Amino acid sequence: MQGTHQPPQARLAAPAGLHHVAYMTQDSAATVDFYTRVMGMKFVAAVSNNEVPSTGDPFPYLHTFFQMGDSSLIAFFESVGLPAPAKSSHPAYDVFNHLALNVSSKAEVDRWIQHVKSCGLEVVGPVEHAVIYSAYFHDPSGVRIEVTTTLDPEFVNQSEQAYADLASWQKAKEAVRRDGGDNRALLDWVNARNGQHKVGRSH
Ligand SMILES: [Fe+2]
Repeated sequence: MQGTHQPPQARLAAPAGLHHVAYMTQDSAATVDFYTRVMGMKFVAAVSNNEVPSTGDPFPYLHTFFQMGDSSLIAFFESVGLPAPAKSSHPAYDVFNHLALNVSSKAEVDRWIQHVKSCGLEVVGPVEHAVIYSAYFHDPSGVRIEVTTTLDPEFVNQSEQAYADLASWQKAKEAVRRDGGDNRALLDWVNARNGQHKVGRSH
């Protein structure tokens, strides 16, 4: 229903938070070094198996887990004898897919920038979006990491507007389709929307 936020079943609460997010690595040792030395996380667990428990696939693996300040985890799988991962079909995927991690303040984001640079890594930022303040860098597996802090707590209090934006975005996409792929309608929509309200503008 537009403007409301209903869980899948009336009595089922939304998940409480992140348990873990999992990516693949081709070098577990480099991954452990990065997440402990650069990211300051604790290497809390390693699991291995000759097959994937959920699917039965015969992919031997080492599964490593790194813990953050709120006890949530970042996890990696390394399997053996795999070809290199396929490249993205468009650079947009490599820009937009990322893992954003909370830090406490703008000053802390700035401290992270200095720290990550001192570890010899390239950093993009700081970038001040309308509602958050961020810096970006990559882990050894190519995961794009963002360290960020929320500047405007209203960022997460605009659900009705978000539903309205979704509806008009859908209409703008239909116009692009009608116009044979000419995306001017979409560009006009973004410009008009950002002229109306700055909260929610991000990358
Ligand atoms: Fe982000």
